[in-house]
Amino acid sequence: MKNSFFVFLLAGHLISFAQNLPANYDESKLPPYTLPNPLLSPQGKTVTTVKEWEQQQRPYILKLFTEQVYGKIPGKPSGLHFKITESGSALNGKAVRKQVTIYFSEGADAPHMNLLLYLPRGRKQIPVFVGLNFNGNHTVNEDAAIIPSRYFKKKDEQISDSEAIKSSRGTSASRWPIDEIINRGYGVATAHYYDLEPDHKDGWKEGVRTSMKENLHIASNEWSAIGAWSWGLSRIQDYLETDKDVDATQSVLIGHSRLGKTALWAGANDRRFKIVISNNSGEGGAALSRRIFGETIRNLNTSFPHWFIERYKSYNDHPEKLPVDQHMLLSLMAPRPLYVASAEEDKWADPKGEFLSAKNAGPVYALYHLKGITSETMPSVNQPTGEMIRYHIRTGKHDVTLYDWQQYLNFTDHHQRNH
Ligand code: GCU
Repeated sequence: MKNSFFVFLLAGHLISFAQNLPANYDESKLPPYTLPNPLLSPQGKTVTTVKEWEQQQRPYILKLFTEQVYGKIPGKPSGLHFKITESGSALNGKAVRKQVTIYFSEGADAPHMNLLLYLPRGRKQIPVFVGLNFNGNHTVNEDAAIIPSRYFKKKDEQISDSEAIKSSRGTSASRWPIDEIINRGYGVATAHYYDLEPDHKDGWKEGVRTSMKENLHIASNEWSAIGAWSWGLSRIQDYLETDKDVDATQSVLIGHSRLGKTALWAGANDRRFKIVISNNSGEGGAALSRRIFGETIRNLNTSFPHWFIERYKSYNDHPEKLPVDQHMLLSLMAPRPLYVASAEEDKWADPKGEFLSAKNAGPVYALYHLKGITSETMPSVNQPTGEMIRYHIRTGKHDVTLYDWQQYLNFTDHHQRNH
């Protein structure tokens, strides 16, 4: 009795010890690893043509990510409809603002998300950057006409909701350089990710994984929070396809950090997104899981048990047993232009693991005769490299900055001219 109690205690101690292991930031302590080959079929044959890739290998890899990592993503719900709630002139007349309620089923009481869209005035067929935001639509710009998102953080419980909204207006503006985007001739569409599912372990009860269960014929544990957020990105694209001012065949998907993981999963599933951008998406996003540097699968699943499906937890200490690694997720973007960006001080996200992942998606792009990253070593800071797959490591910390956006705008200009 005494002994088994001791063993129990010891086991508990070991588990918490493993969970709290300090992250590895030492290249010399990396356990060796071998990456799975994205072109190797389950029959052991190497895929050599676009046809084999498109018809067999790509669906096979997508299924592996669905079953082992992120869960399913349901399709368009029946009764999906849109309502322009507000529109007006914005940014000193340079832009048009539209706020659109995207209802996920029939009726005015249906679960919904609120989309905020800015388009350069006087242009037609506008390509739009699409991305979810962290803190609410009203934080992306100081524009007082932005309808506040339903969930907002209060720094101080004593202040009223309206005070809290007022003081948070524009607080994420540095991550959304709307002026610059508009000046460059693009639109930008964003929604608060909490509209789809609040980001905590019980958030699914309040989000689309519960409210849309019957309509979508899917149990809440068959998908994940990242799945729910990704699904929302596709619903934004559904709206853009109906907006006559927009060229929805040119949509650029963008996401930072956990929302970068989300953008990659959405881009893998929804090929209507023409360009995909991952900003500092890290572990479970662009970074290789087999490289034990910074965050690990165990860290992810311990702090954020709702982001992925249950099955992913079985790889907590065994990334080598996963039939995929994240370069294979990136390869699912082919042949579309893909941008992966890191930040020098964002060691937790493993910049080198993001670079190697982007580089190792290259053989799939090569099937389409497209060039990925040719450089063998990581580029210096602020020196973007690569053609259809482009990579940079920016100076500074985990964030989305004007520098990042300028590179994404240049990349988008380049690929739109070429296509
Ligand atoms: C945490 C988490 C990362 C995530 C990041 C973010 O740091 O560990 O995986 O990318 O939050 O979303 O900001």
